[in-house]
Amino acid sequence: MPSIINTKVQAESDVLPTVEYQKIANKHITKAVGRLRDHVFVSGQGLQVITSDGRELLDFTAGIGVTSLGHCHPAVTAAIIHQAQQVIHVQCAIALSDPYVKLVKNLVPMLEPAGKGDLSSFFFWNSGSEAIEAAIKVARMKTKRNNIIVMQGAYHGRTSGAAALTRSKTSFFAGTGPLMPCVYTTAYPYWHAMGLPIDTPEQVLVDQAVHQLNQVLAQQTAPEDTAAIFIEPVIGEGGYVPCPPAYLRAIREVCDQHGILMIADEIQTGFGRTGKMFAIEHSGVVPDLITIAKGFANGMPLSGIVTRKEIMDCMPAGSLGGTYSGNAVSCAAAVATTDVMMQTDLLSNVKSRSDQIFAGLRAIAADEKNGGWMISEVRGIGLMIAIEFKDPASPITQHHSQGENVKLPSYLNKLVQDECYDRDLVILTTSIYPVLRLVPALIVSEEEAERALEIIRESIKAVSDRVLASSS
Ligand SMILES: Cc1ncc(COP(=O)(O)O)c(C=O)c1O
Repeated sequence: MPSIINTKVQAESDVLPTVEYQKIANKHITKAVGRLRDHVFVSGQGLQVITSDGRELLDFTAGIGVTSLGHCHPAVTAAIIHQAQQVIHVQCAIALSDPYVKLVKNLVPMLEPAGKGDLSSFFFWNSGSEAIEAAIKVARMKTKRNNIIVMQGAYHGRTSGAAALTRSKTSFFAGTGPLMPCVYTTAYPYWHAMGLPIDTPEQVLVDQAVHQLNQVLAQQTAPEDTAAIFIEPVIGEGGYVPCPPAYLRAIREVCDQHGILMIADEIQTGFGRTGKMFAIEHSGVVPDLITIAKGFANGMPLSGIVTRKEIMDCMPAGSLGGTYSGNAVSCAAAVATTDVMMQTDLLSNVKSRSDQIFAGLRAIAADEKNGGWMISEVRGIGLMIAIEFKDPASPITQHHSQGENVKLPSYLNKLVQDECYDRDLVILTTSIYPVLRLVPALIVSEEEAERALEIIRESIKAVSDRVLASSS
């Protein structure tokens, strides 16, 4: 038996046969996770991942908007290794760590445009859901009110409080209630969720949403009982729908009028994803608090909230914290990630690749006979891009141009996703509607974007050919 102290353990670097992983996973890992495939990623570089059976995949998921600088970015990996050799765990209630403080130093100027200098007081946690939990606490403590308003289609996470704020799918909480009470839902200006035609003008959607919000405040939660309104500036799990700036401005006004906190959940949209450092910047609106996670630690678990000092200071010592809160290695990864973000022209790559992908997808949608007829809408902003397909179950999008004999299948997004996977492109779906989402690393190259477009084009055509053939 080796000694417990200073034991050199043989690194188990050998990759197991894929079936071996699958056997163990299927027997011992919860099915509640719902994996896309039982494949095993053994290495990753940039947008390329390699599976245990040697397949090379083009990753257009970035682990759901996390690896913004691509897998194993050398600067981030070096920072992780360095920090792991210094100190790995510094519990936040015991001491500060060097990267914890350096991270704040990096984040303050990055938040300047979004917060106009006001958002500069931080608390770090691990996951996005935990950041939401912290935001709920701060909002309630600051306002001494209980109620929270969320958007129809919102996704804020899976922990108990965060799940109570989630409205994108019942599967995230069905059968596990009662959830946290005092949460009220208002409309988000998205034509499909509102049951309105696809070509409804944006201003009409905004007016409708403002009308609904005023009704919620008049009929369900009195302004003086309402602590916060949470909003994703681009609703993510709800379908990748950018929020019209006019609606964000209207929410700001309502919040100002009634002393309600406006909380922007930038867990998915933050750190360059939409072409600005924070998506809220597109509107010029300054929220009271922003939740952050995902893209700023490039894969290491780290999240946080940032707000005005006067708001954060309402929290008594000890009311926020956690064993791993602001872990030193995660913070070191975030310092390296944010250094790269500030020192390179990442945002101009986001803009160029976004323009390229939008142009490509719009051309696919316009190509009626090669599958364009199945597409309802191409939308998004920056590198949060969605294709919404037609849906036989939706009175709004079930109509198509191929005649009555052609039966539109359900979940066209999943059929296309499968075809893409067969062609080595990993891509995600989202929302209760048939939506495919593209959320590649922000460093995606022109060639990689072109390859992804080509695969999507072929995949949509393959599904269309199959549907048309089976109907003839
Ligand atoms: C907008 C938003 N909020 C919150 C979360 C929850 O984050 P996590 O999965 O890290 O708990 C997510 C995750 O996808 C998200 O996109």
